[in-house]
Amino acid sequence: MTRPDTMTAISISAPGGPDVLIPSTQPVPAPGPGDVLIRVAAAGVNGPDLAQRRGHYAPPPDASPLPGLEVAGEIIAMGKAVTGFALGDAVMALTNGGGYAEYVAVPAGQVLPVPEGWSMIQAAALPETWFTVTQTLVMRAGLAPAMTVLVHGGAGGIGGAAIQICSIIGARAIAVVSDEDKANYCDALGAVASIDRTRENIADRVMALTDGHGADRVLDLIGGALTAVNIAASARGGHIVQVSTLEGANATVPLRAMMAKDLTLSGSTLRPQSAATKAAIADRIRTDFLPALSAPGWIKPQIATYPLASAAQAHAEMESRRHRGKLILVTTFGAGEKAS
Ligand SMILES: NC(=O)c1ccc[n+]([C@@H]2O[C@H](COP(=O)([O-])OP(=O)(O)OC[C@H]3O[C@@H](n4cnc5c(N)ncnc54)[C@H](OP(=O)(O)O)[C@@H]3O)[C@@H](O)[C@H]2O)c1
Repeated sequence: MTRPDTMTAISISAPGGPDVLIPSTQPVPAPGPGDVLIRVAAAGVNGPDLAQRRGHYAPPPDASPLPGLEVAGEIIAMGKAVTGFALGDAVMALTNGGGYAEYVAVPAGQVLPVPEGWSMIQAAALPETWFTVTQTLVMRAGLAPAMTVLVHGGAGGIGGAAIQICSIIGARAIAVVSDEDKANYCDALGAVASIDRTRENIADRVMALTDGHGADRVLDLIGGALTAVNIAASARGGHIVQVSTLEGANATVPLRAMMAKDLTLSGSTLRPQSAATKAAIADRIRTDFLPALSAPGWIKPQIATYPLASAAQAHAEMESRRHRGKLILVTTFGAGEKAS
């Protein structure tokens, strides 16, 4: 198809609540020499989109100001330097922004094929969280078979990706949740056990579940007072990966316990990483995880869909914390795709 001049996209009219997300008419982006132009079928909603909407997570200077960090769809145009893709390919991609739209241009290094057996709506649930967990827990913290991993927010997008990546690698994920439904969901994704943070002592339970060894890796998105809990729950030589601070950007860190256990605490945000780093993460997902994702019977994340124009409703739902898995915005083009 030929590239249209304009499209519908979701703009952030001002920093604020979900209602500031407004459908607007925007120019269709022109792909640069190394980009593909994707006709978007579906776009995933992620925690960082909420932070951007509130005015707390500004896009990098060269990125689209429109929200949306992951999409799936069809390639309709390509820059001259792009190899390895063809027009009409069904792909999923980590965008640099602008995913809440009917079209988005993405560096080809951040684009992957839709796994076999996945619809475009289902595939739109993967890139942002799988890139984040691959970069932090796998590439930086060296996740390896037989490790025990404590996964906070297990029923959310990041948590679900971490549980599934653990099961592919042969590590044992212990999920932290806030109710039984979420615990059951994490078990279905492959967690070996769940801890209900509303009524159980997290560190004590981790020690009991691991015969006193502790968690070799911790994926945390809560921060604040939980940092000391993570240290108490860690095994000697452990590594705590911080990807968000939902309950506190500052923490009191028991340094002696960190030293005694020989621990590492690292933090990272995906969005400002270089194109080369994002391409390296994509390569790792392609080689290490895509075959498992394409296997028959693979459990896909639970998905709730919203029309693109109802992005505000999807953000309100995510803020309510009722959801399990992922919230996905669907364009007119993606409307016929299956969601479960
Ligand atoms: N560093 C990076 O590169 C990177 C990349 C992607 C996302 N993130 C961040 O990771 C966080 C999670 O993203 P997501 O897409 O997985 O979100 P999500 O789907 O909403 O999941 C968050 C999970 O954390 C739990 N949670 C516990 N305390 C919470 C609190 N105070 N506020 C909100 N949730 C809380 C929630 O379940 P319960 O309340 O039931 O426990 C929920 O299941 C976000 O802050 C996001 O910005 C960071």
